[in-house]
Amino acid sequence: MGESLQAFSQHHKTLLEEKMASFVERLESPAVLKEAMQYSLSAGGKRIRPLLLFATLAAYGQETIKGLNSACALEMVHTYSLIHDDLPSMDDDDLRRGKPTNHKVYGEANAILAGDALLTFSFQLIAETDEAFASPEAKLALIKEFAQSAGAEGMVGGQVADMLGEKKTLTLPELEYIHVHKTGKLLSFGVMAGAILAGASDKEKQLLLEFSTHLGLAFQIRDDILDLEGSEELIGKPVGSDEVNAKSTYPSILTMNGAKAALDEHTQLAKEKLAKTGLNTYYLEKITDMLAERNH
Ligand code: IPE
Ligand code: IPE
Ligand code: MG
Ligand code: MG
Ligand code: MG
Repeated sequence: MGESLQAFSQHHKTLLEEKMASFVERLESPAVLKEAMQYSLSAGGKRIRPLLLFATLAAYGQETIKGLNSACALEMVHTYSLIHDDLPSMDDDDLRRGKPTNHKVYGEANAILAGDALLTFSFQLIAETDEAFASPEAKLALIKEFAQSAGAEGMVGGQVADMLGEKKTLTLPELEYIHVHKTGKLLSFGVMAGAILAGASDKEKQLLLEFSTHLGLAFQIRDDILDLEGSEELIGKPVGSDEVNAKSTYPSILTMNGAKAALDEHTQLAKEKLAKTGLNTYYLEKITDMLAERNH
């Protein structure tokens, strides 16, 4: 694996973005719906979840093309979650990925529907994966894992817990539940989808799940820190949104220094789990470091 993470990311991001755009382009749907979907998909974003999927395939020496439909599906569900997260009835934010939020441009009803369409289309894309890349059994496993990660037991459950926690001081376990679900589950799906496609053993899957759970916690702790310390220009979303919405966050419960210590701890634990897999985890490790240090 001679390629730097920078080159690996750039190559895979381009591939993903072209593929997502062409998938939406071919839909026979009202123009405004396709436009609203493309608007948020093409607005940028780190594409971390697909990169985790591709890096996990790379750990098994497997081809990117195998995971392309699943990676597009994952980024579409993530993008839908952001469109809905920004709605006036939720976090009520005006800026996302450095651009006006979807509802600011297309109106609330279209933003809700663009999110709905991205969510449902994503499952179609996994089902349509070429037989050469995934067996029917593998597709079923992917769909089940994806539904659990995105739905009531995953991201959506975490979003509801996040709202229920507003204007309350949460305990650390309560906050951890929110982070693991609203953010961790979709990040984990990136890794687990790679593992399913690569035919990982149960032991490897268990270690990769533990790795990605620590990674997810670290990722959302960093998000909470950036909501306070970040630059709006770099993060491409408003700073101080959590305080306005009276959310409990790692810094609000543990202090800023405590949050930074927790971030380091989960990053360390993530890397320890990774090392135990015995796989060629070069890119997964680099991504873990990059996420802990990120400014956007
Ligand atoms: C933002 O996710 C929402 C969280 C789960 C914290 P990202 O930080 O991955 O957002 P993009 O995709 O890069 O815009
Ligand atoms: C939301 O967390 C995570 C999602 C499932 C979208 P946040 O509300 O903290 O995400 P940002 O900070 O708006 O990106
Ligand atoms: Mg939110
Ligand atoms: Mg938000
Ligand atoms: Mg946030």
